[in-house]
Amino acid sequence: MLVSGIQALRIAAEEGYALPAINYINMEHLTAIIAAAEELEAPIIIQTSQNAIDYAGFEYLRDLGVGAAERARVPVVLHLDHGKDLSLNVQCIRYGWTSVMMDASLLPFEENVSAVREVTRAAHCLDISVEAELGFIGGKEGDAANDPYTLPEDAKRFFEESGCDSLAVAVGTQHGLYKGEVKIDYQRIRDIKAAVGGRPLVLHGTSFVPLEMVAQAIDCGINKVNFDSELKMAGMKAIRSYLAENPDAYDLRKMNRPMMAAMKEVAMEKIRICKAEGKAWLK
Ligand code: G3H
Ligand code: ZN
Repeated sequence: MLVSGIQALRIAAEEGYALPAINYINMEHLTAIIAAAEELEAPIIIQTSQNAIDYAGFEYLRDLGVGAAERARVPVVLHLDHGKDLSLNVQCIRYGWTSVMMDASLLPFEENVSAVREVTRAAHCLDISVEAELGFIGGKEGDAANDPYTLPEDAKRFFEESGCDSLAVAVGTQHGLYKGEVKIDYQRIRDIKAAVGGRPLVLHGTSFVPLEMVAQAIDCGINKVNFDSELKMAGMKAIRSYLAENPDAYDLRKMNRPMMAAMKEVAMEKIRICKAEGKAWLK
């Protein structure tokens, strides 16, 4: 069933677990993600990035997500990941997403607040949740600014002034592959969580973060965890080995099956570490 991000985040925060949020760009990815959530009876967030929308097309990606969610035996939130502008956020709010992200994190604080507030006013009329980002999460977003991490007092002000429902915080993770060792500032997560009165915090760039570190971050107050690259890499690895064994293959379905199985396996691992297993409140 397709559910509101507001409801899903509220339940996750109350029960002390994190919603696993996984990106999809096509039917195969989506099928693998939903199958993992159904097998573990877990609520799940399926998310679309701007790049995925550019690749697959807005309507097609929406129809895939809404169709899969409505048929799923578990609660599914359809989320816009890193929506960089007002128009894409409004389009998603209008056409079926149940959660959006207005990512104006590269703008100065006040401009970030006002961009998010604008989206929030529209989204909340339709019970759609809004995620924002404060601070600088490295990786694809570029090189770190001087003081990239989120400050607890800024996070508090940000929630109050923007009205957002969840906040992606910069606490050490980065998108994609890590160059060195992963370091997470757990105390900062605890301090932010306390400053914002327990409101939902989001961890981005969680591929390749050791599982025990993800678990600890959740214990400190994270209620949504984003995973993307690691699933895609697992899928590609399965495709490569299928092709190595079957160099003359031409039936895409035969190649996609091992890819989907590999992605499902990683998705299940991530759902478990989020403590979302068995938390499907609608069955
Ligand atoms: O917004 C998407 C994520 O933060 C995914 O990051 O590719 O490092 O898992 P990742
Ligand atoms: Zn991200």
